[in-house]
Order: sequence, then structure tokens, then C-alpha cells
Amino acid sequence: MRFAPRAARITGSVIDRSISVLERAPRDTISFAMGSVAPSAVPANVLREAATSALADAAAVNYGPTEGDSRLRAALREFLAARGTPVGEAELLITAGGMQGIDLVSKLFVSAGDDVIVEAPTYTNAIATIASYEGDIVEVPVDADGLRIDVLRAAAVRPPRLIHVIPNFQNPSGVTLAFDRRRELLELAGEWEAVILEDDPYGWLAFDGTELPSLYDLDAGGDRVIAVRTFSKVLAPGLRVGWIQAAPGVIERMVAAKQGMDTCTNVLGQRLVAAFLEHGLMDAHLDRLRWEYRANKEAMVEALRRSFGDVEGATWTDPGGGFFLWLTLPGVDAEALAPIALEAGVAVIPGSAFSVSDTFGDALRLCFSYPERGQIPEGVRRLRRAYERCAVGRAA
Ligand SMILES: Cc1ncc(COP(=O)(O)O)c(C=O)c1O
Repeated sequence: MRFAPRAARITGSVIDRSISVLERAPRDTISFAMGSVAPSAVPANVLREAATSALADAAAVNYGPTEGDSRLRAALREFLAARGTPVGEAELLITAGGMQGIDLVSKLFVSAGDDVIVEAPTYTNAIATIASYEGDIVEVPVDADGLRIDVLRAAAVRPPRLIHVIPNFQNPSGVTLAFDRRRELLELAGEWEAVILEDDPYGWLAFDGTELPSLYDLDAGGDRVIAVRTFSKVLAPGLRVGWIQAAPGVIERMVAAKQGMDTCTNVLGQRLVAAFLEHGLMDAHLDRLRWEYRANKEAMVEALRRSFGDVEGATWTDPGGGFFLWLTLPGVDAEALAPIALEAGVAVIPGSAFSVSDTFGDALRLCFSYPERGQIPEGVRRLRRAYERCAVGRAA
């Protein structure tokens, strides 16, 4: 079989493959791997009732408008306006999750050989999508304040076409882009005439409720920023519902591109999200998620202190929101550690999955949102046991 040359650039995702691996793992495996919502945080009763009433209308399983179901569009616009971040009717497109947003942006803006800036480390699937459109990935490190703008200036040997950034509680490191850096990034993108893909699934999950202004809002009315957002991390990822905010001319093109892709986003999923918003349940739900995930994060940080506090050079981030923290264990081969950890009963994603270069081989992404809080200390103890076995293997 002769594939198109670009097929060689289609790599898939270690994170997504871990779902199948976990399905085959013993039932008592504790997962710090997938970035999923806590099963107990899914409002199952509300969704069940919404599904029953949605299915009374055949339109819920018919094709829908590509722009998105009108009920969801109206409910979402109302919700965003009430949060002080209104979005115009022509600036909005409902998508099949955040991934489709990343795909649409890449499809419309990346040509073969274009430089695309990404954070290092960053979300595996975003790299995979950009590479599938034959963009050349240029990695710029993050520090505690997010993307290093000083390094970005030096790293861009020619103006990049696209800058992918996860500004809030970044996947995988948990860091947030500081306010000043947001402004600097916008300025640089303007100089370079580059598009910023603001990939923001976690911005509503600040544990203390404070939110920095989005790049999209800072660009107020400009066309420099395309915001990709999703209900996956605040409601349920299996619904596959997200949205894009962009200048009307961009949205128009995206609607056309989406028509050549999937015609419309799953209508039933959209109706469930619409019902949740229409019932006015989202604000209280977000408050609960912030509380639960903060408690989970604190449990994980405490467990790491107990189980890895004596490991020389071990560090971990302590995020103020989101789903993930980033554990670095100098000298360890995290790709070798991950299968040993799985055997020991805990699933993790090795740091190498979050970069195209040979960095982060000694790091792990740990998701604290998904596991039951009571299981977190045991999961971290299992990881420590696996680390011992790995360390013994290294010394042998
Ligand atoms: C930064 C980032 N963007 C996008 C996505 C994908 O979101 P969705 O599941 O809605 O496609 C994720 C999911 O992990 C993510 O972390």
C-alpha cells in the first residue's frame, strides 16, 4: 500500500494509546495517566434526564447546523457574557472537542515546512496534529511563568506561522503564562504576523477562582488569536463538545473546513451541554470541581513529599489549577519506569511524550483530577516502588 508522503508524519498519541492499555490493566490499577474528569464529578443524573428529554425530539439525532446547535450556541453565549467575556455570534463555532479546534487551526494556517512554535513540554496531541499538516515544530521551554518569551525571540530564526500556547495550568506541566508575558507574546505575534492558537481547556479551573485575561480578550477585536476551548475538562470528555472563538472571517473558513470533515458536531452531545447551561448549573459545578481538584492536588503533593522527599534532585510542580503536575526524577529513564509502574499498579505518562526532542526523559506527567483522592497516596507509593526497581535496574 502506498501512503501519501504526509502519512509518514502521522504519529498518533502515547496519551490516547494509554486508554487501550489501561482497559487491559488489572481493575485495581490507579491511573495518573489520562487527563480525565473525576468519574464522581460527572453530573450523571442531570445528563441522563437531559438525554431522555433530548431524545424525545428526532432533531437531536439528525444532522445539525455546522456552526453548532442553536440552543447550545445561545446558552454558551449567555454563559460567556455573564462571566464578562462575551463572544459575538459570528465569532463562534461549536467543535467536536478541543482536538477538532486544533485540527481546524492547523488545517487553515499551517503549510508544509512552516515553523510552528510550541511550548516544551506541551500537549502531545497538539504536536501530533501540527506535524500531520507537515508543520516544523520549534520548541520553546516553559518555566514557572509559562512560555519563555526571551527564548522565543531567539528560537524563532524566521517568523513562525503559528504559535501554540496553553496559557492556563498547562498540559503537562501545570504552569500558567504570566500576565506580562501574555502582552509580550501578542506583541511578538504582531511583529511576525503569526497566528496564536490559544489552547485553553483549564482556564476555568483556577483553584482560587482568579483568572488572568485570555490572549483572545487581550487582542480585543483583533484577528491575531484563535481560542480553542472545550467542555471535556469541565463536564465530560466523551460528549466531544468544544468551541472556537475567532474573527468572523476565520470562523467562516472553519465552517467550510468542518463541512469537509464531519458535517456537524454530535447533536445529542451538544443538546446535553446546552441543557446543563440552560439549567444554570455550570457555575456551581465549576465551584465544586475547583474544590475537589484542589484537594486532590494537595493530596498528591503531600504524597510526593512523603514518598519522594528523600530522592535527590526530585522536583514537582505545584499548580494553582487544572489537572496535572510534572514530576522530575533526575537520572531515571521514565519510558522504562512507566511499564514497571503499570505492573506495580499505577499508570503514568512518561515526559518524553510531551516533546519532539530528546528532553524530559527523566520526567512524568501525573494527573490528579481523575483518581479517587483516597487512592492517591497508594498510587504514589506504588510509583516509588517502581522507581526503586528501575533504579536497581540502572545500577546493575
Ligand atoms: C491542552 C489541551 N488541548 C486540547 C485538549 C483536547 O480536548 P478535547 O478532549 O476536548 O478534544 C486537551 C486534552 O487533554 C488538552 O490538554
